[in-house]
Amino acid sequence: MGLFGKKKPKSFLGVDIGASSIKIVEFESKKGRATLLTYGYAELPSMEAGDTMFEDPKATGALVARVWKEAGCKSTSAMAALPTSNVFSTILSIPEVKDKKLRQAAVDAEVEKLTPLPLSEMITQTTFLDGKKEKKGKKGEPKTKQKTFRALVTGSAKTFIQKYIEIFKVAKLSLQAIDTESLALIRALIGKDKGAIMILDIGSKRTNIMIVEKGVPFVSRSINIGGNTVTQQLVQAMKVPEAEAERIKRDLGMAASTASGLAGGLPKVLEPIMQPLVNEIRYAFQLYAGMELAEVKEVEKIIVTGGSSHLPRVPEYLAETLNMNVYRGDPWARVVYPAELAAVLEEIGPRMSVAIGLAMREME
Ligand SMILES: Nc1ncnc2c1ncn2[C@@H]1O[C@H](COP(=O)(O)OP(=O)(O)OP(=O)(O)O)[C@@H](O)[C@H]1O
Ligand SMILES: [Mg+2]
Repeated sequence: MGLFGKKKPKSFLGVDIGASSIKIVEFESKKGRATLLTYGYAELPSMEAGDTMFEDPKATGALVARVWKEAGCKSTSAMAALPTSNVFSTILSIPEVKDKKLRQAAVDAEVEKLTPLPLSEMITQTTFLDGKKEKKGKKGEPKTKQKTFRALVTGSAKTFIQKYIEIFKVAKLSLQAIDTESLALIRALIGKDKGAIMILDIGSKRTNIMIVEKGVPFVSRSINIGGNTVTQQLVQAMKVPEAEAERIKRDLGMAASTASGLAGGLPKVLEPIMQPLVNEIRYAFQLYAGMELAEVKEVEKIIVTGGSSHLPRVPEYLAETLNMNVYRGDPWARVVYPAELAAVLEEIGPRMSVAIGLAMREME
């Protein structure tokens, strides 16, 4: 707020609609830094949530509006993210073409071969990453120094995006843009780190596995394993209602000890989710190492996030099993917030990573 009618500081919402929860954060930009104004969330028991929140845009929109109101949000300017499970993402190399239209046409022709749906039924977005010179021809061959461009292309079905638009319409929020979960997580957890980093977002029903090289998602996969898998196992094994199983799961940390005999002292009940996860992580490493357009090829560390990254000994188990550096990410690291909230924010941080990354987009 300057003296001469400078622009009023604006605030922005990041709205994350997960499989069984809604999270909202509101940031304003102060001296160019994302500053927390408020936050809120609603969690549904997995049984009630159905398969995903998108099946019923009206009910989900009403819930978004409720969380918005209860959190005391002011802005109606919202950013949302498409879940990795519904996003197509690829990195392509195309020859340099000056004409923008022709360049996009070259990208579209490549993408058309790769997408599960016809391009006409999708909305895609292309980001050109860099110009990259190809090697000169060998001796005797003509010296073609043809330049190529790398492009990140993401997309999703129009019908799916339509559901988003509906949710926000019902919630009376103005949807500024739709991002992907991967890009939001990169903003919240990696920032400008230039290496090759894996982000593991362990949610309720799904785990997203990403490999990010120099800030660009090279691998984005979503698998149907998450904290809910553990809750359901406890329901079956202990014959208790879901809410009770959820409580027991959250208390596992107190009982965790190195005596389980598993890597990192992982509690035995977590083995059935962590073992398949390790297989998927190894598979992602292989995919990435084999990518022609990747430059680093070897992942140097893993950042875990998502509500189920709270499960005890998860980073320790992964670190020992994969013999690498694994730690819980701090999505608040680049955000200014009141010191007295530090403990609460630390507790909810892993669940809020996507929402935080979304609200940060408007600060860029
Ligand atoms: N303290 C805790 N200890 C263990 N698990 C926890 C804890 N807090 C939250 N969880 C689990 O985290 C999960 C919710 O995480 P998150 O909010 O990241 O998922 P989501 O985004 O709603 O779902 P998805 O990513 O599958 O779409 C639930 O399974 C919940 O039981
Ligand atoms: Mg999530």
